[in-house]
Amino acid sequence: MNPAKPVSADRLPELLRKMPKAELHIHIEGSLEPELIFALAQRNGVAIPYRSVDELRSAYAFTNLQSFLDIYYAGASVLLKEQDFYDMARAYLLRAAQDNVVHAELFFDPQTHTARGVGMDTVINGLHRACVDAGAELGLSATLILCFLRHLSEEEAFETLEQALPYRDKFIGVGLDSGEVGNPPEKFARVFARCRELGFHLVAHAGEEGPPAYVWTALDLLKVERVDHGVQSSKDAALMRRLAQDRIPLTVCPLSNLKLCVFPDLASHNLRTLLDAGLVATVNSDDPAYFGGYMNDNFTQTFAAVDLNAGHAYTLARNSFEASFIGAPARQALIQRLDETFETFQ
Ligand code: ADE
Ligand code: ZN
Repeated sequence: MNPAKPVSADRLPELLRKMPKAELHIHIEGSLEPELIFALAQRNGVAIPYRSVDELRSAYAFTNLQSFLDIYYAGASVLLKEQDFYDMARAYLLRAAQDNVVHAELFFDPQTHTARGVGMDTVINGLHRACVDAGAELGLSATLILCFLRHLSEEEAFETLEQALPYRDKFIGVGLDSGEVGNPPEKFARVFARCRELGFHLVAHAGEEGPPAYVWTALDLLKVERVDHGVQSSKDAALMRRLAQDRIPLTVCPLSNLKLCVFPDLASHNLRTLLDAGLVATVNSDDPAYFGGYMNDNFTQTFAAVDLNAGHAYTLARNSFEASFIGAPARQALIQRLDETFETFQ
C-alpha cells in the first residue's frame, strides 16, 4: 500500500527532504567538489590547468556526456593516496546523510586511477574504510560497485577484475560506465559472464545517450539486475513492457540528464512516464559535484518541474530500497522507516 496522504505543493519539498532514501547511482569521483580538487592538488603537488575554484567551476558547461567525461577524468587526477580516496568518499557520505540518504551504493572507476600508477589496494581500501566508518558514525550503510570503463577494451576490463579480486569482499558488484555510444554492452559480455559466475551483482549504464537496443543487450547479454539511466527506454514500447514485467529498476538521474542535454529542460524529463508505465524508477545524483545537486536537489527540482505528488515521492523512495542490494531484513526495516515518515508527516 502507498501510505502517502495528499500534501500541499508548498509542503512537498520538506517531505522530499525528510523521507529516508537510498542512492544507487553515484560515481564517487563525480562527488569531488572543486574545493576538494584544489586541496588535494596542493596536498599532492599535482598541477591542474585552472587558477581558481571559480575558474574550474565555470568550466562545468557541458553539451553531452563526452564533454563532461573529459573534465571528470581530469578532476580525478588529484587522487593519489589511500587517504585521498577516503576523504572524497567521506565528504560525499557526510553530505548524503544530510539529505536523509540511509543507504548508498557507490560506483568507482579503478581504471582511471590504475592507469596513473595508483594501486588497486589504495583505491579500494580508502573507499571501503569510508564506507565502514559511515555505517558506524553516520547510520548510513554504504557499499561499493566497481565500474569498467566501456571506452577501453574487454581485455582491460578482465585485467582490472583480476587486480580487484584480492579485495572482492570489499565490493558487491560490477557496473559499466563512460562513453556509451559506440561502446555497446555486448563488448563486455564475457567479462560480465565471469563476474556473474563469481557471484557479483551486475548493473550497467544503458540508454543514457545510447539507443533502446543497448538496454536490451544489457538485459539479455550482460544479464544486469538494474539499468543505470535507461531513460531512452521510453522510445521502445516492448522494452518498457519488459522492464515493468521483470521489475528491472532504472536508476534515473534527472539533473545529470539536464546538464548533459539528454532533455532540453527538467519539465520535459520522462520520469513521470516511466512511473506511469509501472517501472521501478529511482532518483539519483550521478555526479553531484558536476551537475549542481545532490539527492534532495534532484528530488525537489524535478518535483517542481514535473507533475509529481506525495504518492510519487513515496513510490520513488520505496523503489530505491526495493532496487538496492541490501539484505531483506535491512530492506524491510528501511521501508518501515519510510512508512513511519509518511504516516507522521503533517
Ligand atoms: N561516469 C561518470 N558519470 C557518468 C555518466 N553519467 N555516464 C557514463 N559514465 C559516467
Ligand atoms: Zn552514471
